[in-house]
Amino acid sequence: ENNLTIAIDGPASSGKSTVAKKIAGDLNLIYVDTGAMYRALTYQALKSNVNIKDENALMKLLQDTDITLRKAGEGQAVYVNEVEVTNDIRQNNVTNTVSIVAAHPRVRTEMVVRQQKLAENTGVVMDGRDIGTVVLPKSDVKIFLVASVMERAERRHKENISKGIFSDLDQLKKDIAERDYKDSTRETSPLKQADDAIRIDTTTLSIEQVVDKVKQLIISRS
Ligand code: C5P
Repeated sequence: ENNLTIAIDGPASSGKSTVAKKIAGDLNLIYVDTGAMYRALTYQALKSNVNIKDENALMKLLQDTDITLRKAGEGQAVYVNEVEVTNDIRQNNVTNTVSIVAAHPRVRTEMVVRQQKLAENTGVVMDGRDIGTVVLPKSDVKIFLVASVMERAERRHKENISKGIFSDLDQLKKDIAERDYKDSTRETSPLKQADDAIRIDTTTLSIEQVVDKVKQLIISRS
């Protein structure tokens, strides 16, 4: 039961990480936020003035970039070469450029290898865009979370305000729609629902309702 592998995919701000964290906590599984890994590389590239369109330069940087995810209270702390970047990787400069970094095929190949290692010999709840399709295609349960752009922008807006981050609702709507477009139209492992994934539209659901649904699915499928 503790070797369960659960894949949670979906577009930006669809509630994946909130739900994944809760499920992992309740079922005593390791939570892996793969978006944080792409964000960490993006952060490091921006900081080191590496051109994020230059795949060779990014690969060189990635080879020297140790990305660590550690449980911290209810959430997860992120480290790059042992320096904590948990908050830095959520800033707008990273959010609005990460999809360019994540579109490079060789960057993805290396990230997938690292992600698969994290799930070796242990149960995980992993969230991202390609977990059910590419990273862990044999997951016990695959969930695909969706919500309207308006709803996702409003959720992110509230979250930003609560964290004291500057937030503009209209801009968020545009940014989310653009990230969805980039993530679902890239050539290498685009955001796409796996054939055997269960789709949950969270637009009108609370976090608790989504968590309950996912738990029921886990019970019925494992
Ligand atoms: O999940 P989050 O929104 O933090 O992910 C940030 C970005 O990282 C996504 O917009 C996407 O470009 C990329 N990503 C990805 N594959 C994953 C996880 C994230 O391409 N498995």
